Order: sequence, then structure tokens, then C-alpha cells
Amino acid sequence: MDTPTQFLVEAWSGQRTPFYCYDVGLLRRTLARALRCASVRDRFKLHYAIKANFNPRILSIIASSGMGADCVSGGEIAAALRAGFPPEDIFFAGVGKRDDEIEFALRSGIGRFNVESFEELEVIEEIASGMGLIAPVSFRVNPDVGAHTLAGITTGLAENKFGIEWERIPEAIRAALNLGHIQFLGLHFHIGSQILDMTDFGTLCTRYDQIAGTLESEGLPLGDINVGGGLGIDYAHPCEHPMADFESYFGTYAASLRCRPGQMVHFELGRSIVGPCGTLISRVLYVKRGHSRDFAIIDGSMTELIRPALYHAKQQIENLSSDEAPLTYDVVGPVCESSDVFGKDVRLRRCHRGDFIAVRSSGAYGESMASGYNCHPLPPSVFINE
Ligand code: LLP
Repeated sequence: MDTPTQFLVEAWSGQRTPFYCYDVGLLRRTLARALRCASVRDRFKLHYAIKANFNPRILSIIASSGMGADCVSGGEIAAALRAGFPPEDIFFAGVGKRDDEIEFALRSGIGRFNVESFEELEVIEEIASGMGLIAPVSFRVNPDVGAHTLAGITTGLAENKFGIEWERIPEAIRAALNLGHIQFLGLHFHIGSQILDMTDFGTLCTRYDQIAGTLESEGLPLGDINVGGGLGIDYAHPCEHPMADFESYFGTYAASLRCRPGQMVHFELGRSIVGPCGTLISRVLYVKRGHSRDFAIIDGSMTELIRPALYHAKQQIENLSSDEAPLTYDVVGPVCESSDVFGKDVRLRRCHRGDFIAVRSSGAYGESMASGYNCHPLPPSVFINE
């Protein structure tokens, strides 16, 4: 089921465009489904990747579902705490953690630092020692596992900046065990985002088993497992598939990840939780007849939703105001960049000035990546279907 148009109609009355419209009912159903599918194993723990959407209202709904939080900055940790995520369920990842962020995270009593380098481990030890605290640490592993997704959002290959090479994990654990203010608690992975091919996650499980085997043979502790996020959504058919395939995702991990007794498995899902519930609503400013094509110039732009411009990502676009026969348009924003395009050769019901245009599946990495370029104000948000 899709966000019904009548809810959108209620939402936009009196609202300046462009704005984000969030279907709270769909968000709640998605949370319930994800948690139910994850309960296939009692040691699967879900965290929400705050970077996907940190709108305070969205965060507090997710916090009250009982999920933990995955953060990549001090600002995200502060947002998670404000929303009510318990500090011990907050994990802190990122290749470039600043000293003040590390201090803040330690002071807040977060549950885990996902450490991405030997150099970072040293700095955390030094800061924790200065504060008289013990830092709970997992190592982010670079597993050299590819993912079938957009190049800009692949993270698990050796050439990517993330994590410690998987061959050096025993050395990293030994280093951690020798430090007085580090508690080693496990391994962390994240191979990429918008992944729809479950065999990619299966390959990660195989790599984990290989690393775990080496650690066992060397008598080193394994700790728990954090497999990151990455589950994709159906951008092409948001009405038919308004929820990610949580069954296959958790089923793949349940079948392929060989857990040792007592091991917890953590997940950090972003897009699959909030992607489908958000829609960017804009209005047509001009229908411009170009040399070889017609442009629907809308008031939304890459400053509200940068995914199409940045990754050539495709999202479904609809004219909500017209019931005339479709025509073909390039749907573009007003920003002074040729890349400010939502879609080329899009079939849209005939557009007129003032029509409302919806860009579906914009709940993840939409509002959270908005910018003030061209002095555009940040987009407001409305909540429907509570
Ligand atoms: N964990 C870590 C360590 C991550 O880096 C990410 C996302 C996640 C979890 C959540 O992944 P998800 O379940 O949302 O796929 N801006 C891009 C996506 C960047 C993803 C960055 N990392 C986009 O708009 O497609």
C-alpha cells in the first residue's frame, strides 16, 4: 500500500513547497515488521543509522521502538540522546572521529566505538586514560567484499577508506588487549548501501567465518558481530513494495552467519527503515519548451534531495495534480548546476504551472543531506497518517 494521495493533499494545504511529507503510519508498520523479522533469532539486535534521517520527530518514533542507534559524529550522538536512545545502545563509527567527539562519546557512556584504524585506537586509549575511563571497542573490518550497488555507496572493498584490512584483525585485537583503557568487544562490518542481492550479505558471512576461524586458532577473543546496514528498497515500485524485504535479509543472516555460542549480532539499518515513508513535494514553476526536450522546472532541487544529482539515483516521480495523459519531461530544479536533475525522459501526467510533484522514497538520505546552496532554506517537514 502506498501513501494515499488524500493524505498528501491534507499535508500540503497551506504549506510552502518544497517540503518533506512523512507517512508516520508506514514508518511504524516498517519498524514493527523489521523487529518481527529480526526476532527470527533472539540474539539479533537492531540499531537505526541516524545519518539516513535525523528529523527529531522521526528519531523519537524510532527510539521508542526499542532500536539502538548507529552514529557517525558527535552531533549524531547528541541527536540520538535527545531523541531518547539509551546511551549503551548508541554505537559510534566513522574513519575520522575528532578528539572532542571521542571525549563526548566517552562522557555520554555510549555502548561502542567502531574503531577504523590503529591510529584511532591509540588516540581513544590516550583520551580514555586521561578521563580515567574504559572505552568499549569493536574493530571495523574492511572485508574486501564487493556489493552490487552504486559505486559511490560501496564501502567494503580494499580500495575504500573504511575499516582495518581483514588480514590485520588479529594484530589489532592483540594491540587492544595490551591497552589499559580499551575493552575489546567485537567486529564491525558494513559493505555498502542499497543492496538488493542477498548473496552479497552471504559473502560477508563467509568472510566473517574465515576471520573468526583464524582468531579461534590463534586463541584470540571474537566478541560479538555487527554486520552494519545496507538493505535496499524498491525505488522503482514504491506502491507495490513499500517495505524492504526484511524476511530475506534477516533470513540470509540467520542461515549464513555461523555464530559462536553467546554471540550477539548487531544490525545498523538506515534506508530500509525510513526510505519509503518520505516523499519530497514540490510544485511546477515553469513548463519550458527546450530545443529537443520539454523541461518541468520544479521548486524542489538538489538542495533538498541530492541523490539523483550525486549518484544518478532514480526515484519515482509523479504529478499529483493532473489526470491528463502523460508526456515526457526532464524534471529539473532551479539550482545553477546542470546536474540539478531529478530525472530525464520522465513520463509524467501533463504538467502545468502550480502542479504538485512528488518524488517518492525520499525518506532516507533526503532531508539529512539537504544543504543551503544558493541560499535555499532547509525544507520543512509535515507528518501524516499518524
Ligand atoms: N552502518 C554504517 C557504518 C554505514 O556507513 C551506513 C551507511 C549504514 C550503517 C546504513 O546503511 P543503510 O542501511 O542506510 O544502507 N547517501 C547515500 C547512502 C550512504 C550510506 C552511508 N552509510 C545514498 O543516498 O544512497
